Amino acid sequence: MAEEASTSPTLSKRGARAFEESAHLLGLASFLETQYSNQNPNGVVNFGVAENTLMQDELKADLNANLQLQDLDFTYGDHMCGSTRIFKGLARLFNRYFKPVSPVEPQHIVTGCGVTALIDQVSHLLGDEGDLMLIARPYYNGFNNDVSLRSRCSMHGVDTGSINPDSPQTLAAFESAMSQLESEGKTACAVVLCNPHNPLGFNYRRETLLAYCRFAEKHDLHLVCDEIYALSQFENEKVADKVPFTSILSVDVKREAGCNPARVHVLYGMSKDFCANGLRVGCLVTQHNPDFRNAFVGTALFMKVSSAADALWSRLLLDDTLLDNFVKTNQARLRATIKYCLDWFEARGVPCNQPTTSHFIWLDLRNYLRDRDNDGNEFATDRERDKDLWLAFLEAGIFVAAGYAYTSTLPGHFRFTFCVRRDVLEVGLKRLESVLKARKKT
Ligand SMILES: Cc1ncc(COP(=O)(O)O)c(C=O)c1O
Repeated sequence: MAEEASTSPTLSKRGARAFEESAHLLGLASFLETQYSNQNPNGVVNFGVAENTLMQDELKADLNANLQLQDLDFTYGDHMCGSTRIFKGLARLFNRYFKPVSPVEPQHIVTGCGVTALIDQVSHLLGDEGDLMLIARPYYNGFNNDVSLRSRCSMHGVDTGSINPDSPQTLAAFESAMSQLESEGKTACAVVLCNPHNPLGFNYRRETLLAYCRFAEKHDLHLVCDEIYALSQFENEKVADKVPFTSILSVDVKREAGCNPARVHVLYGMSKDFCANGLRVGCLVTQHNPDFRNAFVGTALFMKVSSAADALWSRLLLDDTLLDNFVKTNQARLRATIKYCLDWFEARGVPCNQPTTSHFIWLDLRNYLRDRDNDGNEFATDRERDKDLWLAFLEAGIFVAAGYAYTSTLPGHFRFTFCVRRDVLEVGLKRLESVLKARKKT
């Protein structure tokens, strides 16, 4: 006789909450399984996730041919927070490209399996449960999960209105937000700056970085600078006076802004500038806060980079010629591809911003929103109208990210990842065009 099975065992309260709070990611997970590829030509073309596929052929050939593992790579290695090899490589990278005020040393660095993992740890170590991290809107949507799912902190998006988003005046909105939060008895632990900016594709000017430093000092906050797109720079012929990338590492925050440098931490990774999201390597640089770095030791193994990925990135980082060639070629391809895409949108009369960095074009698709669904029911909100267009893109076989996911308050704005291999880009743009043609208001 068959035995009667018990009811399913329950998850912990944390587990149940994790399931509930990440349910919205299930859609993304199922999209990832159905992506377009040569083997899956009917799959969805990805213009929604920040992946740069322009250097895939070179990376594949080079890394497949040159993975050289040492005996040490089959052990836990020589450092809890990474390896002496990758620390050396990263220190060279920062000292070569980020113009630090004082040289970045191996002992300033912690590595982890992607910036996502590092943000999780950073929020865990800098914030207590319920603490807020302030950031200008719109902002990279991944931050929300990264700081909340385990650390129970949350992002607090600050609306800076119609002021140029890279200007120091935006900090006035942060001051108001801070007063409001204080009056509500809420605590902030950090201010987050994404430079270059995701999703808007600009570099912050130096005086704005200084304003952030003063703000952090005034309110006793950490300043977490995500510089993951630092080297994804390109010229845009429509922008005569491009603001160059300035790393916070190159700012003497104490002398120039009276900010304690122990507040300042930089995130960087292999995913974007090195076109290798899948290898899962990221790092944190904290030059003047050894306590913070040491606080990672206990949990560093939760996010330790696989030695194979460490070896692959280190190879690029430790060879100046290889590194310079890679960065230069990637930038040339970004430049050619963005020009191709901007021309494409211009030819079709689609308004958009003029990025000079990162992987994105911010499209203004208000002209393609509908007021009613197929059954004639009127949409009640801008969000419903945006979602309707987003679904139309998906049905046509493309994933373009809706601006509301980045807490944008502008209706009809979408983030388009342009750095897609030309063969795939052309397939995707054709599909995009079919939706635009069907939707354009006369
Ligand atoms: C600003 C920013 N930070 C962090 C990440 C996540 O990077 P990683 O792949 O290293 O986890 C992304 C990915 O899109 C990003 O845009």
